Amino acid sequence: MSTRKIQIFDTTLRDGEQVPGCKLNTPEKVEIARNLEKLGVDVIEAGFPISSPGDFKSVVEISKAVTEPIVCGLSRAVVKDIETAAEALKYAKRPRIHTGIGTSDSHILHKFNSTREEIIERAVAAVKYAKRFVEDVEFYAEDAGRTDNEYLARVCEAVVAAGATVLNIPDTTGYCLPHEYGAKIKYLKENVKGIDKAILSTHCHNDLGLATANSIEGVIHGAGQIECTINGIGERAGNTSLEEVVMIMRQHPYLNLITGVEAKMLYPISQLVSEKMQMFVQPNKAIVGSNAFAHSSGIHQDGVIKNRETYEIMDPSDVGVDQSLIVLTARSGRAALAYRAHKIGYQLTKDALDEVYERFLAIADRKKEVYDQDIHEMMKDVKIELSA
Ligand code: KIV
Ligand code: ZN
Repeated sequence: MSTRKIQIFDTTLRDGEQVPGCKLNTPEKVEIARNLEKLGVDVIEAGFPISSPGDFKSVVEISKAVTEPIVCGLSRAVVKDIETAAEALKYAKRPRIHTGIGTSDSHILHKFNSTREEIIERAVAAVKYAKRFVEDVEFYAEDAGRTDNEYLARVCEAVVAAGATVLNIPDTTGYCLPHEYGAKIKYLKENVKGIDKAILSTHCHNDLGLATANSIEGVIHGAGQIECTINGIGERAGNTSLEEVVMIMRQHPYLNLITGVEAKMLYPISQLVSEKMQMFVQPNKAIVGSNAFAHSSGIHQDGVIKNRETYEIMDPSDVGVDQSLIVLTARSGRAALAYRAHKIGYQLTKDALDEVYERFLAIADRKKEVYDQDIHEMMKDVKIELSA
């Protein structure tokens, strides 16, 4: 099986920024975009230019600030939206307009009060109009996750014939199961005439906690691009998390899927986005959470001290985290205490360790975590000899 490079389409600044209360100003967005460029993403979705003058300005400034990635602007399948996106992208070296319309029966009926045939006409017209401004036009079939596959294939075929270069298949409501989403991508790959002229893209939401699994199923079944955000931020339960999909492909080389992402930047950029958006990262978040490389139970600590690989599937430094943490709690054993004490300058004999461990347990039962300062305190009045 030959290796395929999967395009990473970052939408932190568009779908990610739809998180309530997380508005960024233009300089903050430009700073994040510059870091996304260093991270090595292939596409930056910089905003939704028609949505506000601030968003328009951010897309203009990001277009000027980055040169390597494609810069993308969102629009609905509406003439004014497309014109505004084109205008905002005019300084981009590699512009892309991302236009589309809802294709599920629910969207067709309740949002558009329309018919399936009319939606295809509007989709085609939008792609053709966007092509007047830029060569690279991505089409999104909103709520594709709940759109029946046969109809979705007809929509895709029509927009590819109209010139769409990328077909975005969003699971907008995060409803699909991984095998269903994978089958959808496979079906499109096998049934859309002209599909070789376009890249299929995943765009998964996390309402059931399946965004990462669905995106991976999507690329396994032929998608060539993943749309995702740093820290998985986004509307409701968020979008696919960039750091998760990148590391899954990297840690499972037999998948033969690679990306251009510089993994060592994952933790620093996660921190940057968290700080700018004032949205903390949950401690147990995969890859970038503060506990992602922290070990607190005695059995695990003993294993990790002997050999990191016993309980770690990645080297923390590969994702830009300094080192694994041995957290001292009431569940820690002697090995962890001796290890931590050694790190701060105490070489404990066996007897000394026994005595200090008793003191440690008494403190650990009172406190959630035992810190280096507590260890120094414990050592102060230990009567037995210590070789420091
Ligand atoms: O989730 C979604 O369907 C979207 C589209 C606008 C691409 O974000
Ligand atoms: Zn979305």
